Amino acid sequence: MPVPKAELHLHIEGTLEPELAFALAARNGVTLPYADTDELRGAYRFSDLQSFLDLYYGLMAVLRTAEDFTALADAYLERAAAQGVRHAEIFFDPQAHTARGVPIGVVIEGLSASLERSEERYGISTRLIMCFLRDESAESALATLDAAKPYLDRITGVGLDSAEVGHPPAKFREVYEAAGALGLRKVAHAGEEGPAAYIREALDVLGVERVDHGLRCMEDADLVDRLVRERVPLTLCPLSNVRLRTIDTLADHPLRAMMTAGLLVTVNSDDPAYFGGYVGDNFDAVRETLGLEPEHLRELARNSFLASFLEDDEERRAR
Ligand code: ADE
Ligand code: ZN
Repeated sequence: MPVPKAELHLHIEGTLEPELAFALAARNGVTLPYADTDELRGAYRFSDLQSFLDLYYGLMAVLRTAEDFTALADAYLERAAAQGVRHAEIFFDPQAHTARGVPIGVVIEGLSASLERSEERYGISTRLIMCFLRDESAESALATLDAAKPYLDRITGVGLDSAEVGHPPAKFREVYEAAGALGLRKVAHAGEEGPAAYIREALDVLGVERVDHGLRCMEDADLVDRLVRERVPLTLCPLSNVRLRTIDTLADHPLRAMMTAGLLVTVNSDDPAYFGGYVGDNFDAVRETLGLEPEHLRELARNSFLASFLEDDEERRAR
């Protein structure tokens, strides 16, 4: 039995497996620039974050109807359940869909139709986190928050993702303030490819409660001290870091050093269809490669619930 865990860093669009992509392409009359699933999988060799994002946004062309988003989320939840996931906080990228003419309501209604049944079907509680694309403008992020207002009962928080370098958190101060005023929780990707200074900025300017990745905090000892002191959770994604060449090999991953430093780290899958594994596969990979002991794995699983947006009573039930 896989250890019960929460997944806190998962882009639902990053769970689009080649087989489902081709099925949706056929259903929606979309022609993909790949002959078949093997050729598509063969294109999953990334040199950095941007080279991945180009393919990731391109493949989203197959997602057109609410039913497509429901099918996408159902497929993820089924796989996640098999790997011990009891709670999932799921990112989605509305601007990547609205820019293609798919209304935000279609995306949210489609995902919600799956998530509403996930507890009963898969034993997984869920939350939705709406991400702003940081390589789009601050105005576009504000317009996205505005467009999401009729659906705020389905959305727990906001996040910030896409190309990091050159798009510091402070660019999104206003939309995070507005999101906070609406009662939304706040997270942001920071310190994946971008510098440790972006992690500080996400905390100080955006007021995030949790940092996605946060890997590069290890370059700044004072920042590590602060993250430990303030118990700020970091949602690490080890296989993603290797595939996007943030680190050279999994053996170089600082996860173990981060745990030893007292950081509240969690292990997650990011975009599992592209990076070679779901969250349980990430756990297995770090256990084998970094020689983690059962107590480390228990700590990672415990951290995943502690760092979640579950209320205390829900957290106890989920564990
Ligand atoms: N969007 C999907 N995956 C991402 C990642 N790893 N970093 C930034 N944006 C993303
Ligand atoms: Zn991510």
